[in-house]
Amino acid sequence: MSATANRIEIMHGVNLDQLGRRDPSLYGALDLPALERRIGEFGEALGLATSFFQTNHEGEFVEHLHRLEGQADGLVLNPGAWTHYSFAIRDALEIAALPAVEVHLSNVDEREEWRRRSVLGELCVARVAGRGADGYRDALERLREELIG
Ligand code: DQA
Repeated sequence: MSATANRIEIMHGVNLDQLGRRDPSLYGALDLPALERRIGEFGEALGLATSFFQTNHEGEFVEHLHRLEGQADGLVLNPGAWTHYSFAIRDALEIAALPAVEVHLSNVDEREEWRRRSVLGELCVARVAGRGADGYRDALERLREELIG
């Protein structure tokens, strides 16, 4: 942990780079760079330093989690569809051993049955779904509480 413990890594997974082309009624109208700018502003307002990562490759997502030791104090994860079945990401999250919040733009609990399941949830301090971009602010607030009090 750094002296201030305010470094938050925001990780987006598979197909999140396609925001802007995906159904805006589910995912909103922001593309990923615009969403990341918004999250950065939320972070700044809360005194948190945000960094961003996105990949469509599960192994890269896993390896990024491996590399975070000493680099981040908390995580905001939207792994996309991997959330629902990737035990590899689940194990890597356990190795990273950082406070994490799982975020979904859409309300996964009111969509298809398979989206209700998260294999990561038990390793996360909270889960936010269906709040669009504002859900990331909720997640950052939760992490701030966890890290700074
Ligand atoms: C998502 C929900 C997932 O079920 C889906 O596969 C995504 C995006 C969301 O942000 O709402 O790709 O994580």
